[in-house]
Amino acid sequence: MEKTKIAVLVSGGGTNLQALIDSAACGQLSSGELALVLAGNREAYALRRAEKAGIPTEIVVKKECAGQAEFEKKMLAALEKYGIQLIVLAGFMNILSADFTSRYPERIINVHPSLIPSFCGRGFYGLRVHQAALDYGVKVTGATVHFVNEIPDGGRIIAQKAVEIQPGDTPEILQKRVMEQAEWILLPRAVEQVSAAILKGETI
Ligand code: GAR
Repeated sequence: MEKTKIAVLVSGGGTNLQALIDSAACGQLSSGELALVLAGNREAYALRRAEKAGIPTEIVVKKECAGQAEFEKKMLAALEKYGIQLIVLAGFMNILSADFTSRYPERIINVHPSLIPSFCGRGFYGLRVHQAALDYGVKVTGATVHFVNEIPDGGRIIAQKAVEIQPGDTPEILQKRVMEQAEWILLPRAVEQVSAAILKGETI
């Protein structure tokens, strides 16, 4: 069966990548093939997860490039090499330029650990997002899966799920709850939905 070729872009632990690997293994992700894991960091544990699952890996480190243009040129070359049709940002800690995002309109998905438009945009990533939610004192946070455009965290929303904040939460405790109750559920579902739509030539 023909499948949408997916690249997962990672920088860290890769638990969202693992959720995608697991959903492919159990058949939930059936319209897409995890064809490439592209890491922005040589030490990303996500690379080990990819290797264990038999997914090809590539590494492109921004600091080792002359600038954003060279960084993106290298990434585009890797994506083209594997015939990638859908890009999933799963804890990828680099912002992509308008030049890059405009090449893949509604073909880049991101998972963000808050209910957008709260606690999002430039500077809001990883534990900083959860710290900001705790500092503000909101009682509910969550996760958002959205398309990526030229505005950081500003693309069309695909799915959201709310998660309650509990007394005594630290950023680390909250991050784990948001991952377990929202991110690892929403992301595989959205990736299957978009992969299936791409195969049918439809938009979601
Ligand atoms: C996840 O919580 C993801 O939502 C967040 O980084 C974490 C990566 O974890 N992404 C952002 O903050 C993007 N702005 P993982 O490497 O274990 O999937």
